[in-house]
Formats: sequence, structure tokens, C-alpha cells
Amino acid sequence: MASLALFSTDDLSLPESLQEAVEHGEVFTRAWVVELILDLLGYTPDRDLCGLRLVEPACGGGAFLTVVASRISASCRVHRRPLTDAIDAVRAFDLLDRNVEQSRTLITRTLREEGWDTGGAARVATAWVRQGDYLLQADTDLQADYVVGNPPYIRLEDVPDDRMAAYRRACSTMGGRADIYIGFYEVALRSLNRGGQLGFICADRWMRNQYGRRLRRLVTERFSMDLALVMHDVDAFDDQVSAYPAITLISNKPQAAAVAADTNRSFRAPQARDFADWYLFGKPSATATPSYQAARMPHWFPEEDSWPAASPARLAVLEQLTERFRPLEDSETGTRVGIGIATGADKVFLTKARDLVEEERLLPMATVRDTTSGTIDWDGTHLVNPWSADGDLVDLDAYPRLASYFEKHGEVLRRRYVAVRQPRRWYKTIDKVDHRLTHRPKLLLPDMKSRIHPVLDQGRLYPHHNLYFIVSDVWDMRVLGGLLLSRVAEAFVEAYAVKMRGGTLRFQAQYLRKIRVPDPAEVGESDRAALAEAFDNRDVEAATEAALRVYGLVELPD
Ligand SMILES: C[S@@+](CC[C@H](N)C(=O)[O-])C[C@H]1O[C@@H](n2cnc3c(N)ncnc32)[C@H](O)[C@@H]1O
Repeated sequence: MASLALFSTDDLSLPESLQEAVEHGEVFTRAWVVELILDLLGYTPDRDLCGLRLVEPACGGGAFLTVVASRISASCRVHRRPLTDAIDAVRAFDLLDRNVEQSRTLITRTLREEGWDTGGAARVATAWVRQGDYLLQADTDLQADYVVGNPPYIRLEDVPDDRMAAYRRACSTMGGRADIYIGFYEVALRSLNRGGQLGFICADRWMRNQYGRRLRRLVTERFSMDLALVMHDVDAFDDQVSAYPAITLISNKPQAAAVAADTNRSFRAPQARDFADWYLFGKPSATATPSYQAARMPHWFPEEDSWPAASPARLAVLEQLTERFRPLEDSETGTRVGIGIATGADKVFLTKARDLVEEERLLPMATVRDTTSGTIDWDGTHLVNPWSADGDLVDLDAYPRLASYFEKHGEVLRRRYVAVRQPRRWYKTIDKVDHRLTHRPKLLLPDMKSRIHPVLDQGRLYPHHNLYFIVSDVWDMRVLGGLLLSRVAEAFVEAYAVKMRGGTLRFQAQYLRKIRVPDPAEVGESDRAALAEAFDNRDVEAATEAALRVYGLVELPD
């Protein structure tokens, strides 16, 4: 469990370099952003806030705490409680003494301005704010109904090894290159009482990148992702930072409805209040204003491997399709997504010469170039094939010309990693040839392309490794090709794949597997015909129109 005190934090020194990095990572949140987060969480003075525990894990100069103090003060008045009843209502931490002092001073001042006596205000402030490392606190100090804040941005390499090791022991999601803020999420989530809520403004990269995977798993397995409000261009902090922030709300309950929202730079306090109204009381389920767009979905995305990125309205459609339809790769329909063969030495293994080796050892091969027009224009490339039909490497003694060709290029072939690892199998390609694949009709998709580009091979060629393939026991390949050509299928890949410079998309297997498709048996005759025809004509609009019908969609939002 993350929040067991593993040892006294005093044992860990706070070297100057870390102090500097921490200072460097101090980014203070604007008051209206704090107000927004508290409003969205329902942390409001009409409730008896003295009876609830709020934790601020990294309080800095007190940006959150001052607003919290005001709300608690107002709540005390409404509920006729003395201020001292609020002594346990807040716990806040910061690594730096200076910040602890500053936060305490600010809280005291805020409470005095609200009319409370200095002694009481100072007592409350002292009880609320403590010097310490949030990631290494004892469980009992952290248990919370609300955790709110703006976790620190500290580069991993700036954290001393001993402290980093302690973080990793405390936080199971902090693997690999995980940033410190991942640990803040984990500790905060685990500290939530049942029904408790987390509200952070923090970098949102963990929702999609490799190092966020464990945290995504924790969230999908045990929590409810309630809101992702992307604020990349919003002026949310006192200083300019390029942190790709989002306000993220997560609660300790089974997954319920979730909201995806995006903003632009014109999103400020008034728009934030407007958004909070929609979020809290909102109908309709989607909204678009000049400053933000938002959509409410019945659930969040169930998988941990990556969460999609798209406009809120499109996300809502993708979420709906993910719930209603099965994945493209599906044992029920015998549909499989795979990648073509990697050789490790294309210059040796790929040839257009027909008389290089025994004819039997030449396997016609599809490369990206052959797919450009949308139908296969095979340029005559063959694989010099070292694999027998039963999946073993051929005996070179049986193929003297093949043997002498490989031997001629022996140096290059033996230098490859696969050959170094298995010296006796020095002439193997990196992947095996799966001979069953050659003669099957298959859709081939080039990896890097600005648009999804399925091309049908009737069963003549073997795919090279920049091509992905789709085979199926049930789907008519032209009908499936029409679906894949549509903007609906593309929207899945677009939302999950990392876009490269110039807008090129990667159509790798893991992204193609995100595409959901209807049951082939449920696609009516006329839609099948329309999809197949659209595929033959490379007509993206017609394919999209037919796809929208079979997915039961009126439109695909941008
Ligand atoms: C990004 S600032 C946010 C401050 C404040 N919550 C706000 O929003 O203005 C992060 C703060 O985390 C503190 N900090 C860094 N590492 C910490 C740790 N391990 N435990 C507690 N506080 C930490 C830093 O001193 C800094 O004040």
C-alpha cells in the first residue's frame, strides 16, 4: 500500500539539488482554477465541511488552501460551528519549510479577514499544514474525502536515488520513466474514502503514454474516471508552463458517467463557471461554446493500454461504439490483425531477380509501394525465402543456389542480431513465413499514411513488414474493406495513435485492434453492397455514409 510510512522521511536528506528542482517545479495555480475544481467536486460552503477531510498534497504558497479556508469559514457560519471544529478538516503537505510557513500565514490571514480571532485562525493553520513528503506519509494522515491540488513537476533525474527508491517502494504505478506526479495520483487515489474524490490540475500525458499504463489500470479497475477537462492552452497558472495540463476528477466508486471536455485559451473564470453549471446540472449531454466543448458519456474507456484523444463529441461516439460493438480482431469471426515479415537485411532477402536462387525459394511479396494506388500494383519483388512450408528453415544442402547466394552475403547475414543469437540459423529472417497467409485474401494497410488505406490482396502475395494485414474467416474482405476505408474506422486509429509530424498517422496493429466493427451477420444486403462498392471505387465518402448506417450513427463529429 502506497501510503504506509516506510521509514521516517527525516532519514532522507533534502539536498540542495532537489531543493532547487522542487523550487523550479513550483507552479502556482490561479484562484479561479481552484474555485472551479472545488465547485466541480461539490466542495461548497452549504455542506458541513468540518465533517469532511480534504488533503492538499503539495500546497506550495497556499493557492488551494486559501480558497479552502474561505469555504470552510463560510461553512462554519452556515452550520453555526466554531472555527476550531475545522481543525481536522484539512491536511496539507509541502516539502519546503518556506512554503509551509507561507501557506500557514495565508490561511491565518484569510480566516482573520473572515472575522475569526487570530489565535483560533493560527491554531487551525498550524494543524492543517505540515512539512513532509506526501509520497512517504503514514496512511492515517492521508485518508481523505477530497484530495485536491497541483502535483509537482520534477524531473526524475533531479530526485536523489534513495528518495526515488523510497517512492518506487511506496507507489507501484511509478515504473519506468514515470514522473513524480504519477505517484501523487496513486497515493491520492488509495487514500480516498469510499465515495471520496480527487481533483487535480496536472499534466495529462499519463492518459496515453507508456509510463501511465499502470496508473490507468489502477483507475479502470478500482475507480471512476469522472472528468478530463483538457486545459492545454489555458492561462491556469501564475507562471507560463508547458505542462499540457488537464483538470482530472476521479472518485472512489464504480465507474459511472464520465465527461470529456476540451478548452481553448479564451477559457477563464466566467467560462469556467458556465462549464461548472453544465457539468453539475447539465443537459444536454453535449455542449459546444466558443471557449469549450464537452460531452457526457455513460462510462469511461474500459481499457488500460491507452485512452483515446479526440474532441469530446467524437470521444463520446467512440465510447458508445466501444460499448456496442466487438473489436475488429475477434476469435468469433476468425479475424486477425498482424504485421508482415521483417528480415533484418532487406537488401539481401528482397529481390526482383527471378533467377537468383531456385524458383521454389522465391515468395512473391507485397511492399508498401505496391499499395499506393489503392489496388495492388505488384512490382515483382520476391522474398528469398529460407522457410519450408512446415515452418522450419530449409536445409541449404537441398538448395545449392540458395546456399551460395546466402553464403555470398554471409557476412551481412551473420552480423544481424538474430544470427548472433542463433549462429546455426544464421540465414533465418527475423520473422517466420506463415505459409497459410500467402494464399488467403487479406487487407493490407501501410503503417504510415495520412489516411487509413486498406488494399485488398486476393491471396497472391506475402506482406512485408511495413504492411499490416487483416484476415478473416467470416468477413467478405470488400465489405470489411469498405468499413475500414470509412472515416469511422479511421477515427479509432486517429484517437489512439500518436500523430507524427505533418499529420501522418501510424496504422500499427495495436491501433487497428481498437477499431470496433458490427457483427458481419447483422450487416444488411444493401449496406454490404454499398460498402463493397465504395471499397472498389476508393470512395471514402460513400464508405463513410454506409458505415454510419451500419454503426447506427447519424454523423461523425469532428
Ligand atoms: C506545482 S506546485 C503546486 C503548489 C500549489 N498546490 C498550487 O497549486 O499553487 C508543487 C509543490 O509541491 C511541492 N513538493 C514537491 N515535491 C513534494 C513532495 N514529495 N511532497 C510534498 N510536496 C512536494 C513543491 O514544494 C511545490 O510547492
